Amino acid sequence: MKLDIIAGARPNFMKIAPIIAELEKVKGKIQYRLIHTGQHYDKKMSGSFFEELGIPDPDVNLEVGSGTQAEQTARIMERYEALLLHRHLERTPSNRGESKDLSTSFHSGRDDVKSNIFKGLADWVLVVGDVTSTMACSIAAKKLNMGVIHVEGGIRSNDITMPEEINRMVTDAITDVFYTTSEVANENLRKLGHAENKIRYVGNTMIDTLLKNMSRLIKPSAWDENGLKEKEYFVMTLHRPANVDEESKLKNLIDEIVKGANNMPIVFPVHPRTAKILKGIGIEADNLHMIEPLGYLEFNYLVQHAFAVITDSGGITEETTVMKVPCMTLRDNTERPETITIGTNELVGTNPDNVAPFMEKLHKGEWKSGEIPHLWDGHTAERIVEDLLRF
Ligand code: UD1
Repeated sequence: MKLDIIAGARPNFMKIAPIIAELEKVKGKIQYRLIHTGQHYDKKMSGSFFEELGIPDPDVNLEVGSGTQAEQTARIMERYEALLLHRHLERTPSNRGESKDLSTSFHSGRDDVKSNIFKGLADWVLVVGDVTSTMACSIAAKKLNMGVIHVEGGIRSNDITMPEEINRMVTDAITDVFYTTSEVANENLRKLGHAENKIRYVGNTMIDTLLKNMSRLIKPSAWDENGLKEKEYFVMTLHRPANVDEESKLKNLIDEIVKGANNMPIVFPVHPRTAKILKGIGIEADNLHMIEPLGYLEFNYLVQHAFAVITDSGGITEETTVMKVPCMTLRDNTERPETITIGTNELVGTNPDNVAPFMEKLHKGEWKSGEIPHLWDGHTAERIVEDLLRF
């Protein structure tokens, strides 16, 4: 079996790490290439995750960089297809005039496997999550008649204004095998008419990574710099277009959060997209500590010891569920409802007026304690690779 594994943006890296580790254990039985699309490229958004999680250097980096949704999608498809067809990529407007020989840019770092890596088409592509790279590579592969495996398939926010929802719908429509994280996802796929034998409930690879690294988490320098104390601070992340793209909305949201925190410090690692907008607003408050995006081990250290987390990320609500840390999600919907029905998460919405009552509940100690969803047990990647060996 020849398998391509795709990773492009920050939330992909913790999902592929345990799958790669399991594939390394059955070396020879499954030949794989690790392909980084380059959707995220900063060390803080990409490189540090490879180092901390022990992911081998990608065999190929398509280096697509930033752009609009369509530009990124087009560039990824064009470059991944060129790789699959083992073809020199010509200069085109969409690849910014660069000429690239993808057939010779294999094995940027993995000298040990260099000679064993295949070229051209794979039999299957394995994509994870819901980012632009997930969708773009699925389409390119499927059009060349490869099989598509979607890890975290079937989840839906039913909010078509989110780019991720479109990515999920398109990817799932052409997926051959779904590895799912929840019963809700299974049910969504059944309703869409997917055959039962395509749906494989295996659990959550992101949680494999979390459980494996719990004992390695690292206290960030922000801890001492901001005088943080165990369970006496908030961690906040915001990057969804619905929250951050409009200056006045972002300002109102942050103002309400700062007020509701009752002077408890709020540590806010700022995503590059949000940083661009914040520059124009100039928000300041004594208890608001804006810092650079953190690496995986430092970020999850902060989450584990926090009083509560405030976020608009999906993945973080899964991690807080497993760490049993209260989580307020600033979104009107979620594709991960089990983090609410089973876990410690509550959907606050995006209206700044909603923040205060949830803050009160937290300060009064009335937050639910939560349970952990079935099969979020640290062994999901083992189940996936066991299954892949039966293909
Ligand atoms: C992407 C994913 C989102 C995920 C998020 C996590 C899609 C549609 N969205 O959104 O699901 O939750 O990643 O981070 O795929 N930038 C940098 N350095 C980088 C990467 C990006 O400065 O390494 C800048 C870009 O120039 C751009 C902005 O950050 O202006 C947004 O990056 P982009 O990849 O377009 O989407 P995200 O908002 O990060």
